Amino acid sequence: MELITLQTKHTTYQMGVTEQGLLLHLYYGAKNKGDLSNTLLHYERGMSGVPYDLHGDNTVSCDVLPQEYPCFGNGDYRSPAFELTKKDGVRGVDFRYRSHQMLDGKYQIPRLPAAYGENGVQTCQILLEDPCTKVQIMLRYGIFFEQDVITRSVEVINRSFEEVVIQKVLSATLEFVTGQYDLLYFHGRHMMERISERVPVGHAKHCVESRRGTSSHQHNPFVILAEQHTTEESGLCYGMSFVYSGNFVVEAEKDQFEQIRLQMGLLNEAFDYHLEPGEKFYAPEVILSCTEKGLSRLSQQFHLFIREHICRGSYQHRRRPILVNNWEATYFDFTGEKLIEIAKQASDLGMEMLVLDDGWFGKRNNDLAGLGDWEVNEEKIGGTLRELSEAIHKEGLQFGLWIEPEMVNEDSNLYRAHPEWVLRIPGKPPVLGRNQLVLDFSRKEVVDYIFQKISFVLDHAKIEYLKMDMNRSICEVYSEMARRQDAGMILYQYVLGVYDFLERLQQTYPALLIEGCSSGGGRFDAGMLYYTPQIWCSDNTDAIERLVIQEGTSYGYPISSVSAHVSAVPNHQTGRNTSMHTRGVVAMAGNLGYELDLTTLDEEEKQEIREQIQAYKEQWELIHYGTYYRVASTMAGDAYGAWAFVNEEKNKALLSVVSAEARANRPIYYAKCPGLKEDGIYHCLETDGVYSGATLRYVGIAIPIVNEEYFARQYHLNEV
Ligand code: GLA
Repeated sequence: MELITLQTKHTTYQMGVTEQGLLLHLYYGAKNKGDLSNTLLHYERGMSGVPYDLHGDNTVSCDVLPQEYPCFGNGDYRSPAFELTKKDGVRGVDFRYRSHQMLDGKYQIPRLPAAYGENGVQTCQILLEDPCTKVQIMLRYGIFFEQDVITRSVEVINRSFEEVVIQKVLSATLEFVTGQYDLLYFHGRHMMERISERVPVGHAKHCVESRRGTSSHQHNPFVILAEQHTTEESGLCYGMSFVYSGNFVVEAEKDQFEQIRLQMGLLNEAFDYHLEPGEKFYAPEVILSCTEKGLSRLSQQFHLFIREHICRGSYQHRRRPILVNNWEATYFDFTGEKLIEIAKQASDLGMEMLVLDDGWFGKRNNDLAGLGDWEVNEEKIGGTLRELSEAIHKEGLQFGLWIEPEMVNEDSNLYRAHPEWVLRIPGKPPVLGRNQLVLDFSRKEVVDYIFQKISFVLDHAKIEYLKMDMNRSICEVYSEMARRQDAGMILYQYVLGVYDFLERLQQTYPALLIEGCSSGGGRFDAGMLYYTPQIWCSDNTDAIERLVIQEGTSYGYPISSVSAHVSAVPNHQTGRNTSMHTRGVVAMAGNLGYELDLTTLDEEEKQEIREQIQAYKEQWELIHYGTYYRVASTMAGDAYGAWAFVNEEKNKALLSVVSAEARANRPIYYAKCPGLKEDGIYHCLETDGVYSGATLRYVGIAIPIVNEEYFARQYHLNEV
């Protein structure tokens, strides 16, 4: 069997080509220099299809052997990665290996975000062809040696003489011929995103998916497959992250012989992609990483990779401005004067930017009107936006602005002028979400128009930051301006339109910091992070609920991508009271900001905020670049939430602990700090105690019992 082997520093990925040209998946896991084809045994299995060219030898079936890119139509009855129909209705393909190549550098994907990297990064591409239809598939693998990451993507090329329809095209498949595995995925809802759930993979197919047009609050396009005894500190586990922000599916199934297939890619529901002869289709990228060292290590691999090989732009390696956002301070009810008052306070407290959220444009005084009309409401802000921005800058702050470019209200000039620009089905009253309709971003003229309107605003005032929001799920997938048969292509092209808009912003305004948002964290994925290095993690700013949300987010995404704000109490989403200190400690596990009316604070609160900002500025490198450890899990029911950052040299750490409940006479909690040198000696600033790295890892710091609900502590550890 011809082997194709991809090596990273600690992992190996191996495929094998059979004599008949079947491409088998032989191995992905801890470093291995062997020939894994020897691990396969061939038996005749009842009811499993045999390729025609093998007749006489019934021991070879795609239904049983591990497939690198399973397709429908070759006798494999497990869930396929690829399905194709010809114009005459004939469905089914049988891809065979043609050739492969190793190239220096990382492939890119036209119009889609993809990981990038230079030194030592390689691309492997494997060409497959279906002899019958002449449709070809190019499988691409990006090999990031140092990072222990392999990326995958798929190109489909129609080399036939007639149109074909792709009905399913996933981007990555992994096969496990042995082992008991759990699937970890991150589900949620608006204001409660990325709650982790762990289930054993069984014989019924598990699907994690979004059909909302965005990656969604409900399911995140990041999953982990972990051997059943895997913990934070040990065990074999695999992560898959989709570099895409629209509909997706993750499938995990155990087959009749206890083998597991894990796949990720575009959701095939409502997806029919027509390819004319000569046309190509590009499926988005999947990031794969694995380790036998447990979940913390896997997360750390994803953190580093996304931070250094997905995120881009002038803020990738810079501390983000500590901002105050006026949303929870004023909602729609503000004036220019009020904003300047907040800015004065912000400046006095050491903040660096004021972000003007929703309501600065059109007739936007509530969520019933105005979306789509990107003209400044000068009456409301008491002058031009340039004047307001100048006044904010005079206070020593930068200025940021909220936009929601993909949306329109029926009560808007844009909708009155262009009702055909929304996604809707002729003759059917559209489904509304937050009183708004979705603009057809699959159409270039729509993206051009919105880009030009937003550019005009950016060109006429000094604006250093944009919050790019998206506040409803897509329902009507029909474009009045497209050909009828294009209906199954719209959602994909819509996402390309969003990426086009973001890429143009990046190229035209390279200094701009763009923060992603979708009613909080409804589009928190590696695709968005290619354009926006940080994302508003959730509309839920309650410190205690944020422990769960931020913990769930930390499995797949770096801390540098999380935006977290201190807001008012009682909290607007839960009614809970927590101290300013606790709110600050939680918001420091991300890009710290504030979201409350600063003009109402008393002196004590102001002083506390000044100190928080000072502390954050001193620690941000540790937070941004440090190795992150989940220490205690409120998601799993622990009484405390705890996490730690350790610097690269392992001579400095920050351990944060938050009590998630109030209890009488409670047991003492020991918060561990893993990741330090076991024989190193560390001084703790807060306890003034000295601990060995081994004590910190295996015993931890005893957290004093405090008679205060939701108290928080931070421990600074420095090697002596
Ligand atoms: C969404 C965002 C909020 C805020 C509002 C404004 O819900 O997540 O942060 O910007 O929209 O309408």
